[in-house]
Formats: sequence, C-alpha cells, structure tokens
Amino acid sequence: MYLGLDLGTSSVKALLIDESQAAVGSASADLTVQRPHPGWSEQDPDSWIAATRAAVGALARTHANELSKVRGIGLSGHMHGATTIDPAGKPIRPCILWNDTRSHVEAAALDHDPRFRKLTGNIVFPGFTAPKLKWMAEHEAENFARVSKVLLPKDYLRLWLCGEAISEMSDSAGTSWLDVGARAWSDELLAATGLDRSQMPALVEGSERGGSLRAEVASELGLPAGIPIAGGAGDNAASACGMGTIADGRAFASLGTSGVLFAANNRYLPNPDSAVHAFCHALPETWHQMGVILSATDSLNWLSGVTGTDPAHLTAELGDSLTAPGSVLFLPYLSGERTPHNDASIRGSFVGLGHESDRAALTRAVVEGVAFAFRDSLEALAHAGTKLERVTAIGGGSRSHYWLEVLATVLGLPVDIPESGDFGAAFGAARLGLIAAENADPLDVCTPPETEQTIQANGELSAAFDEAYGKYRALYPAIKGAMS
Ligand code: XUL
Repeated sequence: MYLGLDLGTSSVKALLIDESQAAVGSASADLTVQRPHPGWSEQDPDSWIAATRAAVGALARTHANELSKVRGIGLSGHMHGATTIDPAGKPIRPCILWNDTRSHVEAAALDHDPRFRKLTGNIVFPGFTAPKLKWMAEHEAENFARVSKVLLPKDYLRLWLCGEAISEMSDSAGTSWLDVGARAWSDELLAATGLDRSQMPALVEGSERGGSLRAEVASELGLPAGIPIAGGAGDNAASACGMGTIADGRAFASLGTSGVLFAANNRYLPNPDSAVHAFCHALPETWHQMGVILSATDSLNWLSGVTGTDPAHLTAELGDSLTAPGSVLFLPYLSGERTPHNDASIRGSFVGLGHESDRAALTRAVVEGVAFAFRDSLEALAHAGTKLERVTAIGGGSRSHYWLEVLATVLGLPVDIPESGDFGAAFGAARLGLIAAENADPLDVCTPPETEQTIQANGELSAAFDEAYGKYRALYPAIKGAMS
C-alpha cells in the first residue's frame, strides 16, 4: 500500500493505492481560505495538519488494516505559498497563498532585476514566494527577522510528518529562488531578498526519499514508523505524474480552482516573455511548461456564491449540446491574472449585459470566458515553443460536458476524457511514494490512463467562437485602461 496526501486549496485528500496502483480508499477534509483584505488570500498552516489528521482518521475508520501496510507516502500541495517558520518550528504568521497578490509592487521590483528571469526562467509573479518575503521584510519587519525557514505548504506537512525541512524541485521552482536549469537554490537570488541558504529546506527529486515518518505521528495515524516520504511535487506536477504527463508531446488542461494548461518537456524551455511558467518536473531530468489562470472553477464558485446556486446546477442549466457563444462576455480576472498578462491589479468583468441576460447567460459567459483564458495560455505556450496537438481534461470543472465542448472548440483541439478513476494530484503523490519506497522506474509507474471519450472541436461553431475570442482579447486593454 502507498499513501498520497494532497494539500489542496479547498481540502486535504488522502488516497490509498495498492501494489497494482488500484485505488483502495480515499477521504478528505475541508479547508477554508481567509481573505482579510482585497487581494489577500491566507491559510493557517496548522489547519493543514488538522485536516490531514481528519482525512487520514476518516480513512482509518474504513481501512485501518491497509494503512498499517503502507510502505511509502507521497505529498502534493498547492504551490508558491510562503509558510514562514520560527526557530522553534512554529508558523510565524498565516501562510500567504498562491493567489494572493499583495506583493505585486515587490514582485515587479524583483522582476526588474535581470538575474531573476535569467536564473529562474520565469517572471517573478506576485503569487510566487520570493516577493512575499520581500513584502514581509518591508511590512512586517519583526516577523521577517524571526524567519528560520521558509517552507512551501506541503513541506510544512512534511515537517510535521518527519521533523525535517525538505523540499523538492517542482514546487521549489515556483519560489523565484531556484536556478531551474541547474535544479539548485541560487544564493544570489536568496541574497537579493535578504535571505540565505540556511533558511531554505534541503532539496531532493520528487521521486526520491525526502524524510522518514516519525514514530509519534506514525502511531497516531496508524501507519508504520520510519517509512519513506517521497519528495512529492507541487500539485500540478503531481497531477501530471498521476496522468502520465511526464514526457514531450503530453499535455493536460486542469479546470480546478486555478486553470492550468500543462505541457511536459524533456528539456528546460524557459520563455518568461510569454508569461509561461517553466518549472522542474517531479522526476529527475524533466521539466514542464504551463500557462496559469488564477480563477477557473473559482470564477464559477464566485457566481455560485452570488446567485446562491451550486456550481453543478449552474452548468446543468446550460444543457448538453453546445450552442453559439452568448452576447455576454466574462473576463475571469477575479484575483488578477498570470498568463498572459502578469497583472495583479486587473479585475474581472461582465460585458454586454441586457435585460434578457438571465442566470444561465452569466454562467455561459463564465464558462466561455475561462475557455478563452485557456486559449490565451495555448497561444502563450506556442510562443514558448510548444505546440499542443491534444489535451486531456482534469479537475472538478471537467465534470461539465458542456464546459469541455466549449474548451475543445475554443482551443481547436481534441480534448480527451480519461476513464473514470482518480488520476489527480493525490494519485500522482501516491505514485511518487511508490517509486521512492520501491526504487521503481518512474516510466513504468507514471503511465497515462485509458481515454474514455474524446471531445472534438465543433467545426460548425469554430468561427463564431473565434470571433468571440477576438472580442474577448480586445477587452483586456480597454478594461485595464478604464481601471487605472
Ligand atoms: C500554479 C499555481 C496553482 C496552484 C493551485 O503556478 O499557482 O495552480 O498550485 O493549487
């Protein structure tokens, strides 16, 4: 048995798989996000431990015997969060999350220093970790002075599980402190934010052992003491391990809280000017590129909150067969946007509302607007040298067939739906746990699932969606001008 633990933005999920990689059981426990000021997004790191205890505890009620046979654990987590730890190993303040844009001034200043793009291969986005520490240094000097370690969210869970500060390449690539080509911390970049290597965790590859389970936690969770904890991965690279997206030519579109268009690369292909992320993958000698949309299903969740109607009901109101784009356009920039704009200040818009615009018209605009944002990422990836031929859909939003039809038509690509099963980040993490425990060949383990169905672009509606995409593209500069 192997255990995958995925620290998501909205829940912690624990997934058990057996030797043949079949899912044996899973459980999850919810998390909340605190937004004390506009643009802020925080979580209490100790709520991750409580949720992990709850999720594994729930699994123990039905699978105690299987948990006692676990041979390896893998971790996955939402990326970029700044979890600052004091000398006693305790969080100094709430974690500043990936979709928090408070540090946009500091991010722009660091991005202006050419060493950052050169060594990290990425824009210094406000959601990344380094500008958040610079923000702390400037706005919370007392907190900054107490920073003994800066950990990524899943690595704080690891600290609890094994007592050591360890990270791995895929998540660390999103800090703006990693030399992504060399797969090592950059002393130069750390110094530029007033930090040094002693404040960083040790680095392993995602598929290597990164710590061993402490006896105390093992007995509490009903797991064997001393079992290996794999390095694991940031949630996107972990999902890629779950989906077998680990080599050139494979890609997925993740309709999760954030939207991600992810392409695996056999070599390091940075292109910061396109606002594409170029990160280390979770396996040695592999990298990946991705376009990141900050509010994908989060846009639908927002509409759900405003209308008091749950997201599945909203998308069900659109029916099953694709219709031409509506006259209302939606820009999904509720938390600003990364790819392609790198703009923390922009905010979302509905454009073209009329008396006839009902709830379904707004839902349709949201679904289409998120698909247009994916098209922006597709074009950014092409600009960065990766032309996709097809994508596999994953994430909560991919349960809406209508949404996937819009996506296929807007991207002009076949969208594959995997066979039913759980191939997400928790599964990828469990696979990394298996590889670390058994010293298995990642290529034998990280295979893609069967495709259950392929959704083709709707040729009859392609021209209409292209035209609507053109209008969508024209809105960003206009709205930016109006907002500044
Ligand atoms: C990736 C990113 C998000 C988070 C969400 O760069 O910020 O996908 O990892 O979980």
